[in-house]
Amino acid sequence: MSVMPQTDNTASILPEGGIRILSIETSCDETAIAILDCTGDEHNATFTVRGNTLLSQIEIHKEYGGVFPALAKREHAKNLVPILEAALEEAELLHEDVQVIPEETRAKISEILAREPGLTELFFEFVSECEPPAIDAIAVTAGPGLEPALWVGINFAQALALLWQKPLVAVNHMEGHTLSALAQSENGTLTIKDVRLPVLALLISGGHTELVTMKEWLQYALVGQTRDDAVGEAFDKVARMLALPYPGGPEISRLAESVRTSGELGSSTSKFTLPRPMLHDNTCDFSFAGLKTAALYLLKKNPEITEHEKRHIAHEFENAVADVLWKKTARALEETGAQTLVIGGGVSANAHIRRVFTENMRREYSDVTLCIPSAALTTDNAIMIAIAGFYRALRKEFATNILANGNLPLAR
Ligand code: KG4
Ligand code: ZN
Repeated sequence: MSVMPQTDNTASILPEGGIRILSIETSCDETAIAILDCTGDEHNATFTVRGNTLLSQIEIHKEYGGVFPALAKREHAKNLVPILEAALEEAELLHEDVQVIPEETRAKISEILAREPGLTELFFEFVSECEPPAIDAIAVTAGPGLEPALWVGINFAQALALLWQKPLVAVNHMEGHTLSALAQSENGTLTIKDVRLPVLALLISGGHTELVTMKEWLQYALVGQTRDDAVGEAFDKVARMLALPYPGGPEISRLAESVRTSGELGSSTSKFTLPRPMLHDNTCDFSFAGLKTAALYLLKKNPEITEHEKRHIAHEFENAVADVLWKKTARALEETGAQTLVIGGGVSANAHIRRVFTENMRREYSDVTLCIPSAALTTDNAIMIAIAGFYRALRKEFATNILANGNLPLAR
């Protein structure tokens, strides 16, 4: 499949080289579209969110205890058009007007969307009554993530780009998490400026646990990574063992926090101890499979656990995770001499991990700037895709034929 080259249509809608980006995120179980006005340059950029729509599929995947790829793909296909419409409307860019779509373009788009059942009809129904919106570029997540889910967003983006004659930008989802974490919120806009390099990023999500350094702007190197399970995956699996619903991270966090605030910490907690895998080895790598298995053995040994004990296991598990994440990050800070530490990915929503990092950084690395994204930017969203897309667009890294890559690396 190929898309007509569009690099000749890069005249900006915004003044002074600003770029209005429409971004699409479908890498996992969130269908999200945002529209951002991005201005400035690599050293000082400002982002104004004009539209931001997100539909979570969590309720649908809950009964499977995890994300079911074929279902995610189907839901994205169903949701993309309504979400696009809502985002354009919020951005005041939705103008109804009957459009004549040339037969040749229609045929090409039908080919692009051929593998997304249901989407073709919804697409044509919408675009044949909507004026091409005033946007400059379309950014879409190309990976990492679930490939069937990624493809829906990519094909949708390619179809829109072809129809509206807009340049396309392929975005690495993990770069989105990393760069959006650097944004400061000021007067309703997001600003990324005066970033002190090197940056160290701890990226923790359902599919990733890695420490990445950015020595030069947008140039990444891997410092450490998990050798088995991702930390979010461990949260989700242990939650499942405790008969908690998906996604497990927030559930475990809720139980663990209840132990901390109940004032019941004392002898009863020492009943359960879990290991801190690879805490003292001399790499920045992680391992969470052993921790998960240790939790499983603990439950096998105590088959009749009470609600009270369940809360204490969640508490001990969360403590073990936070200990390991902190120790490895501290090691990586030493190794890289980082001036800025970023925490990104869904697990960075965890209140205990946020607290541990905030306190330890203040105590031990007060000269290093700590950036933890706001709650809305921690889990998957399209704002972060537009932010990363902006920097790639500034560098004119436009794509004509994007391929989904479930394992797309940020750094090697
Ligand atoms: O970044 P994300 O939204 O999606 C991926 O790219 O994977 O991360 C989702 C992961 C899930 O494993 C979820 O359980 C975890 O983030 N998560 C949390 C919390 N909120 C979400 N883990 C621990 N504590 C939380 N509060
Ligand atoms: Zn993510």
